[in-house]
Amino acid sequence: MEDFKPGLEGIIATDTNVSFLDVDQEEIVIRGYDLIELADKKTFPEVAYLVINGKLPNNKEIQDFEKILLDDSAFPEEAYKVLELCPDSSMLMDVIRTGISFLAGYHSESDLMNTNEKSNFTKGIRLIADVAVLTANSHRILNGLTPVRPDSSKSFSENFITMITGKTPSDKEVEIFDKILTCYIEHEMPNSTFAARIIGSTLSDIYGAFVGAIASLKGPLHGGANEAAMHMLLDIKSKGGHKIADDYVMNRLNNKERIMGFGHRVYMKKYDPRAFFLKDYIAELAPNIPDGEELHKIYKIVEEVMAREKGLYPNTDYPIALLFYLLEIPIPLYTPIFFASRTAGLVAHVIEQHNNNRLFRPRVLYTGPRGLKL
Ligand code: CMC
Repeated sequence: MEDFKPGLEGIIATDTNVSFLDVDQEEIVIRGYDLIELADKKTFPEVAYLVINGKLPNNKEIQDFEKILLDDSAFPEEAYKVLELCPDSSMLMDVIRTGISFLAGYHSESDLMNTNEKSNFTKGIRLIADVAVLTANSHRILNGLTPVRPDSSKSFSENFITMITGKTPSDKEVEIFDKILTCYIEHEMPNSTFAARIIGSTLSDIYGAFVGAIASLKGPLHGGANEAAMHMLLDIKSKGGHKIADDYVMNRLNNKERIMGFGHRVYMKKYDPRAFFLKDYIAELAPNIPDGEELHKIYKIVEEVMAREKGLYPNTDYPIALLFYLLEIPIPLYTPIFFASRTAGLVAHVIEQHNNNRLFRPRVLYTGPRGLKL
């Protein structure tokens, strides 16, 4: 029992050839490539293809793949009705989670429970496409708007952002949105991926693994941090702006509160390479909205205070929160978009888990009583 590590810190949970966080080299290795180089030079669908197939696609392969990602012909109309039935007060992550559960029912039991690679691959690609549709439309439906269907004449990212905002984005906005999706795509063994693999390890199906993963990713210590970080930046703006930003953070730290978007179990005390890569795009988008420059100033002061006081640096959720805001994406969609991107990584992990499965079943350090008599 001396192996006990609270939060499983540093414990190797599985072997994998999908990805690895090399903290010493400051590299996020994705199927042998550096994620930051991929985000810089490749599109989200290309990297999604790589994550799932283990190799980059050729021209024909990427065209076919992107076509499937934008094909919603198998998406049942009834699914929209299910989204409509969700109470107005629902959180989007819960609506999407419900949608995923509902869509599982469109597979026969034998198809759903089939864990072979081909079956997981086919279901997994459908899930990536469907989660994007669910993400954009759960927001639309909850806000009384009619659902929109994907436009296959657009790229995946252009279509996704258009479905969300209802506006035609500039090329620059599409490019930055695509880079955000790529940065979120896969990240070794975060809580949500672990949850998916744990569920998969019982030979449960990929839909169930996704439902568990989305519930995990919703939490503010994980994917929910991007929404919380944006609420904090706006709170600082409304209470006095950059002039009070230093005091605001100090106050929170003195109250032992966490500053969302900072710190990371694996990179703790180092800069998350994705955050480092993405932060420079903020200046490009800041002029997009009237308070963009002010929010950028606040952003930089919060970062300075966290480095000075705690030696902590932004994780990827911090710059992405502000980038989403500058892209005029509604805040309740930040975590769902993170999940929509991460679906590619989850497909790869469920396939890998099922291909070489062993049930996850750890033990406990029991601290309760013994020998009680009835
Ligand atoms: N603000 C203030 N203090 C912090 C923060 C933070 N964001 N993160 C860590 N610390 C401090 C913490 O108070 C503790 O200090 P002390 O030893 O003095 O008590 C120390 O750092 C270690 O913290 P921990 O909670 O034991 O470390 P952990 O590895 O369990 O936590 C974390 C990792 C990500 C949960 C944590 O850094 C955190 O809560 N960050 C804010 C939430 C966040 O941004 N999450 C997104 C994570 S990355 C993207 C993703 O996967 O979604």
